[in-house]
Amino acid sequence: MPFLSASLDRVAPSATVAITGLAQRLRAEGRDVIGLAAGEPDFDTPLHVREAAKDAIDAGRTRYTPVDGIPELKEAIARKFARENGLRYAPSEVTVGTGGKQVLYNALVATLNPGDEVVIPAPYWVSYPDMVRLAGGTPVIVPARAEDGWRITPEALEAAITPRTKWWIFNSPSNPTGAGYDEASLRALTAVVERHPHVWTLSDDMYEHLVYDGFAFRTPAAVAPALRDRTLTVNGVSKAYCMTGWRIGYAGGPETLVAAMRKLQSQSTSNPCSVSQWAALAALEGPQDFLAEHNRAFVRRRDMAVRALNAIPGVACPVPDGAFYVYPTIHGLIGRTSPAGAAITDDEAFATALLDEEGVAVVHGAAFGLSPAFRISYALADEALGEALARMTRFCGALR
Ligand SMILES: Cc1ncc(COP(=O)(O)O)c(C=O)c1O
Repeated sequence: MPFLSASLDRVAPSATVAITGLAQRLRAEGRDVIGLAAGEPDFDTPLHVREAAKDAIDAGRTRYTPVDGIPELKEAIARKFARENGLRYAPSEVTVGTGGKQVLYNALVATLNPGDEVVIPAPYWVSYPDMVRLAGGTPVIVPARAEDGWRITPEALEAAITPRTKWWIFNSPSNPTGAGYDEASLRALTAVVERHPHVWTLSDDMYEHLVYDGFAFRTPAAVAPALRDRTLTVNGVSKAYCMTGWRIGYAGGPETLVAAMRKLQSQSTSNPCSVSQWAALAALEGPQDFLAEHNRAFVRRRDMAVRALNAIPGVACPVPDGAFYVYPTIHGLIGRTSPAGAAITDDEAFATALLDEEGVAVVHGAAFGLSPAFRISYALADEALGEALARMTRFCGALR
């Protein structure tokens, strides 16, 4: 009898975490490596958030809390949904977990039965399909096209829905493409879902505040109120508030679903970190002016990356609306040979040779379900980004 669970055979370790680890190891060995693989902002957590955490520690707010969050934070989240999204959730319809990741995982484990399908647009965040598999469900992938700015069409969504579909996952702006759906393109998708009353919407709004060029963020439950009672609106403080290590994510949704998720969390991790909850409250309710400042840096870096990548023959990079990623395709590079003699047979071979030969770590497109492409995270200092893009240009230009 095997010792390890068969459920683990259905999933792969996170490719982004693996590549970040490899880059760190090469660096520890003395190699000059620039990491463009990690999905986190390079800015510090804002001072007022750190101060709130210190105050929480000093005030002894260091004990167990209610399983899915302190009432003060749930109320602040309900206010956030009303203020920023026009969504009305009672605190009893709000759940708080250890990162957006746990909230998404809870939702899937709490609802999926064997054979249930979850529609996932590709390129997708690496964890969605594996979370679905771990929960016993079946991912159904809907590929987007670079020519469509990495947005799926309503026809493609409709074609993927079957009587077994339980959820579709919506992520705008997207990790890994940065593509956002404006109100009209989102409405076209929600109109499809409205015609299928058994399909629930899992909206991952993690990059809501990281939007550029005046892009107006919209979330499905607000655009299509008819879907409100079969939508879970997930968000968190990790990305916008530079709090990836604090591990606070949250969601608003129907009370029965929220109660099921709480039940699951009560038998796994219990409450998210008490100190982090008070810090998250300060993040949501405190000054927001640093967001515009961060976004100015992100848009400058995005433009640097898009310009440099589109200048490389064989590479095509749509302009993202948000997040801190770009997702260029590399059709023109496949089948070539690197300066050191590596055959670029696919995007994984490309990423490996780029890391080996130029010390630039990117994540290959296969990890996000759409090849041949790769993802760059541009959440790093302009100078390091410029150097990485110069190395990439040199590497691609030297391919035979
Ligand atoms: C699209 C998306 N959803 C969810 C998460 C999870 O965020 P958290 O750090 O809050 O668990 C991430 C983090 O990379 C993400 O990119």
